[in-house]
Amino acid sequence: MVSLRGASLQFGKRLLWEDLDLDIRPGEFFAVLGPNGSGKTSFLKVLLGLQELQSGRATLGDRPVERGSNLIGYIPQQKSFAPETPMRARDLVGLGVDGHRWGLRLGKSRANRRIDELLELVGASDYAKVPVGQLSGGEQQRLRVAQALATDPKVLLCDEPLLSLDLHHQQAVSALINKQCHAQNSAVVFVTHEINPSSTTLTAYCTWSAAGSAWEPRKRS
Ligand SMILES: Nc1ncnc2c1ncn2[C@@H]1O[C@H](COP(=O)(O)OP(=O)(O)OP(=O)(O)O)[C@@H](O)[C@H]1O
Ligand SMILES: [Mg+2]
Repeated sequence: MVSLRGASLQFGKRLLWEDLDLDIRPGEFFAVLGPNGSGKTSFLKVLLGLQELQSGRATLGDRPVERGSNLIGYIPQQKSFAPETPMRARDLVGLGVDGHRWGLRLGKSRANRRIDELLELVGASDYAKVPVGQLSGGEQQRLRVAQALATDPKVLLCDEPLLSLDLHHQQAVSALINKQCHAQNSAVVFVTHEINPSSTTLTAYCTWSAAGSAWEPRKRS
């Protein structure tokens, strides 16, 4: 589903990775581990078509990665909304439901039903109409999860998705991501500092070293 061939990424003199070959298949739960600044978020940005490689290629399905692909769901690394952001919780989730459909929108009642379902999934129904800037960090994060799952994506990119969630919601969000992987057969790329590589959830992982190229993808043994 996701492939990199001979991929290298460098910012100025700083080499993040070099000559990387990697395949992530449908139904695979691929963890990306590594210290701050080692290039984990940059890796996801390459898959999102937001960051160009210096060399090599990145493909999604059989096609080069591209911005705005609706095959991808993305839970970004946490940043807070400004308090005055003029958008309610359900509007944010709604962008995931039909925000990418230029011209042809889902019927309003169908879209609303889907938004209600997603809000319920992440336990956000109670604050559906609250402006997002007034929500706590964890409440905002649950909305991003709902938005990322909205299109039943074939590839789900998660950048430290459990940060700032309480234990109950960590478990609930982990279960949703696992379900997307194992029941829907999506490829999951899960960036984290906190997963144990021997966890039964993951099928493969790679560890990024701060030094650049001293890592390789591995299958869980
Ligand atoms: N657009 C850019 N221009 C220049 N340098 C960049 C750019 N994007 C990222 N970097 C640098 O590349 C390195 C890797 O950044 P990245 O955000 O991918 O790290 P990370 O592994 O996600 O770290 P963290 O665990 O802190 O989230 C950092 O040193 C960062 O400053
Ligand atoms: Mg990061």
